[in-house]
Amino acid sequence: MLILAIESSCDETAVALVEDGRRVLTDQIFSQADLHAVYGGVVPEIAARSHLEVISLLADRALDAAGVGRGDIDAVACTYAPGLIGAVLVGVNFAKSAALALGVPLIPVHHIRGHIAANYLAYPDLTPPFLCLAISGGNTMLVDVRDYTDLRVLGRTRDDAAGECFDKSARVLGLGYPGGKPIDDLAKQGDDTRYELPRPYVSGENPYDMSFSGLKTAVINIAHHAEQMSQALDKPGLAASLCRAVSESLVGRTMAAAQELGYDKLAVAGGVAANSRIRADFEAACRKAGVALYVPPLRLCGDNAAMIGAQGYYEFLAGHTADSSLNAYATMEL
Ligand code: KG4
Repeated sequence: MLILAIESSCDETAVALVEDGRRVLTDQIFSQADLHAVYGGVVPEIAARSHLEVISLLADRALDAAGVGRGDIDAVACTYAPGLIGAVLVGVNFAKSAALALGVPLIPVHHIRGHIAANYLAYPDLTPPFLCLAISGGNTMLVDVRDYTDLRVLGRTRDDAAGECFDKSARVLGLGYPGGKPIDDLAKQGDDTRYELPRPYVSGENPYDMSFSGLKTAVINIAHHAEQMSQALDKPGLAASLCRAVSESLVGRTMAAAQELGYDKLAVAGGVAANSRIRADFEAACRKAGVALYVPPLRLCGDNAAMIGAQGYYEFLAGHTADSSLNAYATMEL
């Protein structure tokens, strides 16, 4: 089954062609990062307008690159939630029109389910059930993937997403937007014990909930204090200390969940899964615990449409299709 997949939830316009949920024929991505960099973050209206400008061209390019005709497409899948509403609307509307014109089913896909499904593309043998830590710019959650379309959130951030913590910290360090990759790069030259940063403690009943706003504030305070006191800021040291703090916070909770709930398969997904410290720490922890680790290659960690095509296939098999009244949503439970 050949699925034309559309992703437009934030600042990447993406179109892919995916066969049977596992084989990517083409994966076209147009990143708007340069358009937003000057503002230090994504500007929603600029994002929506840029999606509108490039989405049709990208779809044509995808068909050309894969060497398939419009008549070969069996269904159209799109991200319909969560995301910047104006941005998601563009992709949903394009997908609805394409499905109508081609006379094929329309499949709505939850963006985070898509991130998790990136692992099906990278690991053909991976099948549910497994535990998944989804870490991106807007979401951070620990998910019990019982089946392809039966997912239960075990814990989530109570405030900022891990990616937001990296992005806001990068801004105060003058590293630009998006900030995760520059912090990751800078951290490689730094001492991760240079600054003492808090390990977020979350009170309440759920031991798997997380928090990152205190960590972000601690980084901002250290940077401002150094500036006010005219002291030199050890930026590589601060970046390394931040990567360590975020990683320890994520790895500790996730491995505890794996052990307590008896999982022997752990997947990590989302843009922040590209972080080299987090990847290395999960590798070490999983090796020690005898847990099989699945982390997508860097290209499949960030937003892309191939992952939407992968999850779309399983949503279709479960009968989750939509009619032309499909809407877009800024927030949506997993
Ligand atoms: O999954 P994604 O592309 O978009 C969302 O669905 O949110 O994630 C984007 C986030 C941004 O916050 C970005 O700074 C972060 O992923 N990111 C990283 C790295 N590469 C991207 N964070 C830490 N280390 C990286 N190497």
